[in-house]
Amino acid sequence: MSLVIGVPREIFAGEKRVATVPDVVEKLIKLGFKVVVESGAGDLANFSDDAYRAAGAGIAENAAKLWSGADIVFKVRGPSDEEVGLMREGTTLISFIWPAQNPELMQKLAARKVTVLAIDALPRQLSRAQKMDALTSQAGVAGYRAVIEAANGFGRFFNGQITAAGKVPPAKVFIAGAGVAGLAAIGTAAGLGAIVRANDTRAEVADQVKSLGGEFVKVDYEEEGSGGGGYAKVMSEGFQQAQREMYAKQAREVDIIITTALIPGKPAPKLITAEMVASMKPGSVIVDMAAEQGGNCELTVPNEAVVRHGVTIIGYTDLVSRLSKQSSTLYATNLFRLTEELCKTKDGLINVNFEDDAIRGLTVIKDGEITWPAPAPKLPVAAAKPAAATAVPVVKKSSHGHGEPSEPMSHQKLAVVFGIAAVLFWVIGANAPAAFLGHFTVFVLACFVGYMVVWNVKPALHTPLMSVTNAVSSIIAIGALVQIAPPLTADISRPDEVIRWLAVFAIVLATINMFGGFAVTQRMLAMFRK
Ligand code: NAI
Repeated sequence: MSLVIGVPREIFAGEKRVATVPDVVEKLIKLGFKVVVESGAGDLANFSDDAYRAAGAGIAENAAKLWSGADIVFKVRGPSDEEVGLMREGTTLISFIWPAQNPELMQKLAARKVTVLAIDALPRQLSRAQKMDALTSQAGVAGYRAVIEAANGFGRFFNGQITAAGKVPPAKVFIAGAGVAGLAAIGTAAGLGAIVRANDTRAEVADQVKSLGGEFVKVDYEEEGSGGGGYAKVMSEGFQQAQREMYAKQAREVDIIITTALIPGKPAPKLITAEMVASMKPGSVIVDMAAEQGGNCELTVPNEAVVRHGVTIIGYTDLVSRLSKQSSTLYATNLFRLTEELCKTKDGLINVNFEDDAIRGLTVIKDGEITWPAPAPKLPVAAAKPAAATAVPVVKKSSHGHGEPSEPMSHQKLAVVFGIAAVLFWVIGANAPAAFLGHFTVFVLACFVGYMVVWNVKPALHTPLMSVTNAVSSIIAIGALVQIAPPLTADISRPDEVIRWLAVFAIVLATINMFGGFAVTQRMLAMFRK
């Protein structure tokens, strides 16, 4: 007999996510489970009852029917009192719980004699656990959305442009805190073409910042910022003073600040003071992702976008819900991966196995007994918080030559390509006149050199590259004119005057193109220099 997974509609105000999506329903059914979804559960994430039905799920008319028929319940937010009241003894609940912050909820759940797996209690340092890491998947969505909100509140382009209507400098974005959300924000802002800088108290994230197209800005003060487990610690007064000075300088320079700094179990550090806000250019934007934990900016109002000193300060705490289809899909996949771990036998039954470190860490209540906090997991553990790096949505370019170096060719393929090229070259060499062969060799070499030069150029630099090649091509035109002119020593009559003046005119044009091309290239490149 297989177990029933029930997915209720989220009732927390403003919550638009749903704990499973139709694609994942099909996979759960393949694992042997039955799936029942409450009517309307996916509406706010654009998944209709019909889509769930088509994937093989049953639809429960209301919450009472859903909870009474489910053996396992998938949820996003921790249950309300009313929902706890609907739980049957022996049910397994999988959702966000935050046991440290919600001791009362823990007691109520334990009293119902249920088993609870808190997705937020996953031992994230286990590399095996990354596929189930909903904190990471959701923070990645939030970081992306923070940039979109910033772009929405900002009155200019993110990328630099030279248009007929004038020159637009790229926006400068500063990201405070380069955890999962911060790294996602760096990748997104850089993808939109902004100049991105970031700071974090943990020096080890500097390389990740760079790999996503950002510049890591250091605080001029030596202090180890890691508090263990990949998280930060509260820094010394000396460090904080030096950090404030650096942040004040950044605030004067940049157009957008996105703050994501958080220390687990502590109020968010106040990094952006009212004076820093006042020193920003009018029209600038701050997105304070830590609004729920008290905010990184002194002037943040949680859940609101306010304008202070001409700067828009966004304190939304529902960034993940604002991208509900995406976040629901990722969350549903995290829960599916967890279900796979719980049901290795693929027979629609689960085994909450305490020998498994990941499952042990997640299980905060087992059959009515509080089992939280779990003992620290045994080795092997991954390096400090590798999840952060894997979660980041890198903006992939679709076609070759647009910045993303393609996958290297396999040795066999390379050998075949070289073989074909060698045969072609031999055929041409054997049949073509000698002069052709010389020109052809130069042509092939030129193609090769040109290809190597252009291949790794970032897409943002393609326009200056075009203008510089334009300038270089003018040099070729001059060379061509020299070729056309008859040799001075030759015993032939001088070319007629019209041709000579035409040649002079052509040289003047080519010279303008050449010097103008280099000048324009210099101006364009200057826009990209920080
Ligand atoms: P995280 O713990 O992975 O990252 C926080 C980062 O801030 C860490 O890299 C840490 O080293 C850094 N940090 C701590 N103190 C700092 C300081 N004084 N100066 C500079 N950096 C400092 O957390 P995650 O998952 O990346 O989330 C980041 C923030 O975004 C959290 O505040 C989280 O609650 C919030 N968040 C907000 C959402 C929303 O809807 N507003 C949704 C999801 C996350």
